[in-house]
Amino acid sequence: PVKVYPNQNEASVDVAHRIASIIKEKQAKGETAVLGLATGATPVKVYKELVRLHQEEGLSFKNVTTFNLDEYYPMKPDADQSYVTFMNKNLFDHIDIPKENIHIPDGTLAEDAVQSFCEAYEQKISSLGGLDIQILGIGRTGHIGFNEPGSAPNSGTRLVILDDLTRRDASRDFGGKENVPTKAITMGVGTIFKAKEIILMAWNEKKAEIVKKAVEGEISSDIPATYLQLSDHVEFVLDQDAASHLT
Ligand code: F6R
Repeated sequence: PVKVYPNQNEASVDVAHRIASIIKEKQAKGETAVLGLATGATPVKVYKELVRLHQEEGLSFKNVTTFNLDEYYPMKPDADQSYVTFMNKNLFDHIDIPKENIHIPDGTLAEDAVQSFCEAYEQKISSLGGLDIQILGIGRTGHIGFNEPGSAPNSGTRLVILDDLTRRDASRDFGGKENVPTKAITMGVGTIFKAKEIILMAWNEKKAEIVKKAVEGEISSDIPATYLQLSDHVEFVLDQDAASHLT
């Protein structure tokens, strides 16, 4: 289903409240909430509202475990552009999540160590009972996580090559496309699909065309986000501009 909001603020607050209610349901049962998180511009206001809920309304993240979708490769965790830095700044530094509960793909591994890292990442998610919710943005290539065109529906966590358009879109953060890593480690489409609930968010006119293809287009590896049409537990959360090309 598609839900269109007047603006990204209202949409983001709603998504944050959905996440908070999962955390509280799990807390009530003495269980861990397992969250699949995204980086980039799209989820920033969701994290802002989660931080507010923590600071002003006492929402605790003590029973929360997180798995981020992806990280550039190679990437040092303390670099300005790393997804570790992004998550610390936007969320983790401001909440009471135990540090050992945070998982982000490791951009510092030697290439021959990546595969076993990826297998362990999948294993860790399953051993905790799977992701209770996965939030997603969408890239202009139609990627979810960094599953670029050509990704298989059953793909797992792995090292991938970034699409040229994705690197161009990231060039501002890196001061030029030539500085954007050519690779990344990402959860697979199959990993994302196993989440009990999936929320894909998109804002602004800039995403309208790819959102139309993702929601209404033919299901194809050319636009990996189209695979989400096959899921019965996905929600597309859009602002009016991102929804403006839908029929
Ligand atoms: C980020 C990720 C990507 C982004 C997508 C949109 O962890 O997996 O798929 O969600 O590239 O990026 P923004 O939100 O910056 O438009």
